[in-house]
Amino acid sequence: MERVPTGIHGLDKMIEGGFPKGRTVLVSGGTGTGKSIFGLQYLYHGAKEHDEPGVYVTVDEDPKTIRKDMLRFGWDIRELENQNKLVMLDLTGSKTGMESKEEFSISAENLSFDKMVLKIMQTADRIGAKRLVIDSIPAFGFRTGNEDKIRSLILKLSYLVRKSGLTSIFISEIPEQSLGEGPMTFSKYGVEEYVADAVILLHYLGVGTASNRTLYVRKMRGTKHVEDIIPLHITDSGIKLTGTESIFDED
Ligand SMILES: Nc1ncnc2c1ncn2[C@@H]1O[C@H](COP(=O)(O)OP(=O)(O)OP(=O)(O)O)[C@@H](O)[C@H]1O
Ligand SMILES: [Mg+2]
Repeated sequence: MERVPTGIHGLDKMIEGGFPKGRTVLVSGGTGTGKSIFGLQYLYHGAKEHDEPGVYVTVDEDPKTIRKDMLRFGWDIRELENQNKLVMLDLTGSKTGMESKEEFSISAENLSFDKMVLKIMQTADRIGAKRLVIDSIPAFGFRTGNEDKIRSLILKLSYLVRKSGLTSIFISEIPEQSLGEGPMTFSKYGVEEYVADAVILLHYLGVGTASNRTLYVRKMRGTKHVEDIIPLHITDSGIKLTGTESIFDED
């Protein structure tokens, strides 16, 4: 199976070299666990180091803020956008109803599910994208409160994304209550983990210890992966995993 290097320092050797090409990876976790940084690091690295264009679909945060925040890690998103190696597709209007000033956005009245998916695919085609991040699935404008309907739309989305051949990250949220006791769910609607080929969980213990962030590969189809909970750090150059130095070195 072909592998796609993730750009997340320490992760590739945990998962046989990278994400399975053309598959969908769910990155899920509580708020502030680093999900968006994870997704942006994957796209930035792909565009910069591997010449693989990417599309970042943002529903929660506006592109302007993201560009500014990512400069802190030394990632010049604008530069890659100018080279057509990265598109920040602004779908924040699906939540706010506001028109976007971004070059790549979709007008508020066009924010039906089908039109949003079409726009994503057209944008990916336009730059010959190999990578896609949707941030996030729960924020995606499903325009219905009916959870069964939302689940079927997520299925449709994942089917279309898979057909496109893009190696994709779907970002979702773990409801806070499932972080404690009781049956564990890995996503907001409880269906994202089944449509995805891989599930990566990010955790923040939030008790002020030196290593209070973790990453855990819950599943990755077709892959021999590390099953431990790995410490994660957000450094000046992005996400780094520690304690992975000796992993599978004997192989
Ligand atoms: N430059 C930085 N250096 C170190 N840590 C940072 C830096 N920028 C952000 N962080 C940490 O990362 C967190 C935000 O990460 P990110 O936005 O990826 O989280 P998220 O899981 O997407 O959150 P949300 O649920 O709000 O979308 C911040 O709360 C902060 O703890
Ligand atoms: Mg986020």
